[in-house]
Amino acid sequence: MHMRKFAKSLAAIAAISALTLTGCGREETAPAAEGGDGAAAGFETGSAIGIALPQKTSENWVLAETLFNDGLTEAGYEPNVQFANGGVSEQQNQISSMITNGVKVLVVGAIDGAQLGTQLAQAKEAGITVIAYDRLLTNTENVDYYVAYDNFQVGELQGQALLDGMKAAKPEGPYNIELFAGSPDDANAKVFFDGAMSILQPEIDNGNVVVVSGQETFEQAVTQGWKAENAQRRMDTLLSGSYGSTELDGVLSPNDTLARAILTSVQGAGKPVPVVTGQDSEVESVKSIMEGKQYSTINKDTRALVEHAIEMVGNLQAGEEPEVNDPDSYDNGVKTVPAYLLEPQIVTKENAAEAYANDPTLSALTK
Ligand code: BGC
Repeated sequence: MHMRKFAKSLAAIAAISALTLTGCGREETAPAAEGGDGAAAGFETGSAIGIALPQKTSENWVLAETLFNDGLTEAGYEPNVQFANGGVSEQQNQISSMITNGVKVLVVGAIDGAQLGTQLAQAKEAGITVIAYDRLLTNTENVDYYVAYDNFQVGELQGQALLDGMKAAKPEGPYNIELFAGSPDDANAKVFFDGAMSILQPEIDNGNVVVVSGQETFEQAVTQGWKAENAQRRMDTLLSGSYGSTELDGVLSPNDTLARAILTSVQGAGKPVPVVTGQDSEVESVKSIMEGKQYSTINKDTRALVEHAIEMVGNLQAGEEPEVNDPDSYDNGVKTVPAYLLEPQIVTKENAAEAYANDPTLSALTK
């Protein structure tokens, strides 16, 4: 009745993650028909599932909407998928309505992961299981699971790509760079930045890489709301303030939307194209990479992430505990949230055709 289809396609990953569960003595028992509180009891097939998505700040969220609607419907659930383009209070209201309407599982991609405490407490009281999707829910005990691509690794890959790209363009340093981070209300933003800095900081410390503006902290690098115009404005200011006759070799950009804004700014200033990183494999950025402008992006296939979230819903429906492969890394300030992390992949012009081979839309751009 439930989700075996997905279980099958994820069998390989599941097999690996199952190893981490060895010794738990978990048994495949039939779901309890009723009783018990929380996740263990299972629930009826055909139940309503709430999917709360943030603002459409990047293509991955738009893709997720369709994938959740189609995937959940196909698996026999009643999806309720909502964007909160109006902001945090809209998302709070949407989640409250989902709870009132009797969803059995809440999958939340938060605008601000720290602002949903009241709603998540209501959800817990109603016996709803809460899955943080892509972005962690923080400062609450009422989040049961986290499913995402490995955010720290995304940052590491970006930092390494920036170094590799600059080295390919100019074999000898020192290299002049600027740093951009995502929105500070998104828990991912700091993790991406920390991952990248774990690679870049030693190079900054030894003088091979120079942040010419001196703006090296997360707080200085953030881009409110993940908004392109904010990144473009900051890049304009950095260029006019620090790069009169100085060469700019590279820019750490946390995602594709901001990478294109940064490139627009550099182009407007009449400067040569620096090495700029990205994330999300957005269509316009993949085109830009193939044209030799943006240097890199990250492949975080939204199909696989949604598929895994739906697999978790299937487990919960059956009264089974969803699998996690990283029980220890994601401390949300109140608890460590058991996580299932997928592996991100770096993409440059060199490996794009291979990386997108199973994605018809993107692979067409690499031909
Ligand atoms: C996601 C990124 C995305 C960003 C802006 C992050 O939480 O992980 O993939 O680029 O939000 O939407």
